[in-house]
Amino acid sequence: MALSREVGAKPHGVKVAGVPVVLWRGREGLKAFLDRCPHRNYPLSEGRVEDGRLVCPYHGWSFTGDGACAGVPGCGSGDLSRLKAEIVAVAQWQGMIFVSLKPQTAFADGLPDMPQGDDYDHFWWAMKPQRARVFDALDNVLDPFHTNFIHDGLIRVSHRRQTVEQTIETFENGFEATYIQNTDYGWMSRALEGRRARSRGRYIPPVAFQGRWEGPERLNLCTTIWFVPQDAHTIRPMARFTTLKSRGPAWLKEAAIRLFLVKVIEQDAQALTKLHDNIAAFGGPKFRAGPGDRLGDKLMRLYSGGKLVPERLGPYAMEL
Ligand code: FES
Ligand SMILES: [Fe+2]
Repeated sequence: MALSREVGAKPHGVKVAGVPVVLWRGREGLKAFLDRCPHRNYPLSEGRVEDGRLVCPYHGWSFTGDGACAGVPGCGSGDLSRLKAEIVAVAQWQGMIFVSLKPQTAFADGLPDMPQGDDYDHFWWAMKPQRARVFDALDNVLDPFHTNFIHDGLIRVSHRRQTVEQTIETFENGFEATYIQNTDYGWMSRALEGRRARSRGRYIPPVAFQGRWEGPERLNLCTTIWFVPQDAHTIRPMARFTTLKSRGPAWLKEAAIRLFLVKVIEQDAQALTKLHDNIAAFGGPKFRAGPGDRLGDKLMRLYSGGKLVPERLGPYAMEL
């Protein structure tokens, strides 16, 4: 994934699960190729766009949006049909670019349900790449218990817990945990949210999470985060935030969310890097589920490509 504004007149290189991809805008709009020229494999992202064609900087071969080679400088005319750049599935949605290495990906079906309409403001946040495993990032964002420790004072307060009721709904391809509780005591929660009736955390395989914080009548805040794997050791979280229009000007809410969350993201990033490095030092993970870890096994099953039996679990009482 990349922000639409990251791909301007110049080609833009990204890594998708370890594979370099070049994004560029040609005559037919946004295109994505594997980031290697079919000639001598020079990175095409270091080239330029000229007359709506992507030009490799090594020998100047140029490519049209469908990958076809349109010219080989210095060689007159010949059969260029074998000299194709390799196309990657790409789609653009509301300011975000989605890339998939699987051919024929139907992006529209794969996008999570996100709040739309005139009542809401939205913004995207492309975070810094972090040394972390996708699984640990998903597990972290779905897990409420670490917030009393890692984010003590910001989200929850370790010495001031409240009783929370958790219910879990599983679907064949996902699950959602709902927490009935008042607003958390941490100062970020109080500043950003307003009165809370419940919050929800949903896993959308393979790499997305959605959190919803709801007041008594309506949604106050929603975030959908994709933990994009750049390679086996690096993730770049991309998040879309939605806030209620009635809660102030869009720029101010965006500034407030960024200001408060930067610290939280940093705290999680540090923890995730420690997990990553320790798991690597021991040659792989060895997890024990505690009494409150009701989501980890479901996450693991779906993340490894399995399915869940649809059911409703709980309510469970917990102190958060
Ligand atoms: S490597 Fe790209 S033109 Fe030769
Ligand atoms: Fe966290």
